[in-house]
Amino acid sequence: MQTRVLFVCLGNICRSPTAEGIFQHKVDAAGLSEKIHVDSAGTSGWHIGASPDERSAKAALTRGYDLSSLRGRQVLAEDFRAFDYVLAMDNSNLAHLKALAPADYSGVLKLLLSFGSQSNYSEVPDPYYGSGGGFELVLDLVEDACDGLLRHISSEHL
Ligand code: 4NP
Repeated sequence: MQTRVLFVCLGNICRSPTAEGIFQHKVDAAGLSEKIHVDSAGTSGWHIGASPDERSAKAALTRGYDLSSLRGRQVLAEDFRAFDYVLAMDNSNLAHLKALAPADYSGVLKLLLSFGSQSNYSEVPDPYYGSGGGFELVLDLVEDACDGLLRHISSEHL
């Protein structure tokens, strides 16, 4: 049985593809690629089929995460049938997902940073309209939370 993890933000071109790339990297490094499936999506349909934002891709690559094969897609109600963990980047994404989820969804639907150790941030701030430093903050917060998420999944499911 695979554990299936979906990361969700607004556009699926900055934060959630970054989370997908980082978590996939950690899953591969732990030798768990067969056991954990990783994907990402956006609550909006604005960037369907698009590559990750160049600023996100560049910042991620600097830390060894290659996002170049990822393409934007919109989250669907069907995703709740396929994914055990649906993890939102911010409270707005989470509210959207709660409205979309079937009432009997039995998986985990929460903020990604609930698995993190940084008590000063509960959400991953949207870097899209910022001056640039937001992309490094996204990487810092998501790397930390993905470590916690992998520890959690390893102890709960593997
Ligand atoms: P993301 O960032 O949700 O982290 O992918 C955004 C990307 C695009 C837009 C907003 C946020 N946009 O307005 O197009």
